[in-house]
Amino acid sequence: MRIVMVGFGVVGRALAERFIADQNYLASNFGLKPRVVAVADTSGALVNERGVDLKKALDAKRRLGSLAKGMPDEVKPLSSSELLDELDYDVLVETTPTNIVDGEPGLTHVKKALSMGKSVVTTNKGPLAIALPALLELAERNGALLRFSGTVGGGTPILDFGRMCLSGDRVVKVEGILNGTTNYILTRMYKGGLSFEEALKEAQDAGYAERDPTMDVEGYDTACKLVIIANYVMGLKVTLRDVRIKGIRDVTYDVLKRLGESGKTIKLLGVIDGEGLVVEPREVSLTDPLCVWGTLNAVTFHTEHLGSETIVGKGAGGIETAIAVIRDLIAVKRFLMRGLGG
Ligand SMILES: NC(=O)c1ccc[n+]([C@@H]2O[C@H](COP(=O)([O-])OP(=O)(O)OC[C@H]3O[C@@H](n4cnc5c(N)ncnc54)[C@H](OP(=O)(O)O)[C@@H]3O)[C@@H](O)[C@H]2O)c1
Repeated sequence: MRIVMVGFGVVGRALAERFIADQNYLASNFGLKPRVVAVADTSGALVNERGVDLKKALDAKRRLGSLAKGMPDEVKPLSSSELLDELDYDVLVETTPTNIVDGEPGLTHVKKALSMGKSVVTTNKGPLAIALPALLELAERNGALLRFSGTVGGGTPILDFGRMCLSGDRVVKVEGILNGTTNYILTRMYKGGLSFEEALKEAQDAGYAERDPTMDVEGYDTACKLVIIANYVMGLKVTLRDVRIKGIRDVTYDVLKRLGESGKTIKLLGVIDGEGLVVEPREVSLTDPLCVWGTLNAVTFHTEHLGSETIVGKGAGGIETAIAVIRDLIAVKRFLMRGLGG
């Protein structure tokens, strides 16, 4: 499988490490033989149709922070868009940063690959939050597969749990803690007696929250994931504009303490039900399976006949998200085999 990797940050590098370390395992268990024909970061692209030397690329990036600086003679000064025009490949792995304003640069990369009939695996929520219904249509029209397991729950297979494992029944409502940073902050407020500001600072110092925490604490990250679940699991054609969003800045320790006395707490929930898509802090019973702590994520799918099923797991992490990419690449491999009559 010829792969172009656009983005060589935390997730891209963790994926390259898995490709190296798990080469035999992936081939013998899943028939997956990834051949990375290009790797790109903002400095340019390393291209080799016989397969990029991933160990060298990782070493260059680790030493000098940039592919072009680490391998100046081998890296081409190509933009990722040019790269996708010029190269022959089977699947794009897109791991550039999430941008919810216009989805770029990921949106251009994903559209370009799909419109050329190339399958795409992405961990980037931006293009999906803005244009998932259109991107799924584009993929279908061009006979390509678009997969994005790592966008929701990191490595925890929340999307496939909702869509594949519960198939046969109808998901009528979804409630989820979809953002580990806000869950950590609310946990430290509830269990540690911290104020919002103190808990946020602790989360930043521990590396769980960005210096600019807007995406997480204002609820946008949860909203992006909710949009992805709504499209993929429930077949709703919605985008970020369809979500009513409120973050956790107004939650206080006093309220959490009072709720605790009656066996409840507050979590930032993403909810999809007959009322639409909402992100807001809501009361949750301490005995609800959804009530997980720290950076954990949890999603409850309420179904028509099976009742409620909850999946819990780590919501992020380089290796975890790289595993989600590999899961998607296995799905792409099966999809391509079917096209060949396999
Ligand atoms: N990290 C996680 O745990 C996690 C979990 C789930 C989803 N995600 C999502 O997955 C994506 C990647 O996350 P990450 O943590 O790996 O981010 P990251 O460490 O910031 O890496 C992003 C990479 O994209 C590259 N890039 C940016 N613009 C580019 C362009 N125009 N062309 C080529 N490369 C470009 C960057 O290049 P430089 O290295 O040159 O800056 C960098 O290598 C994000 O959308 C994130 O929201 C991350």
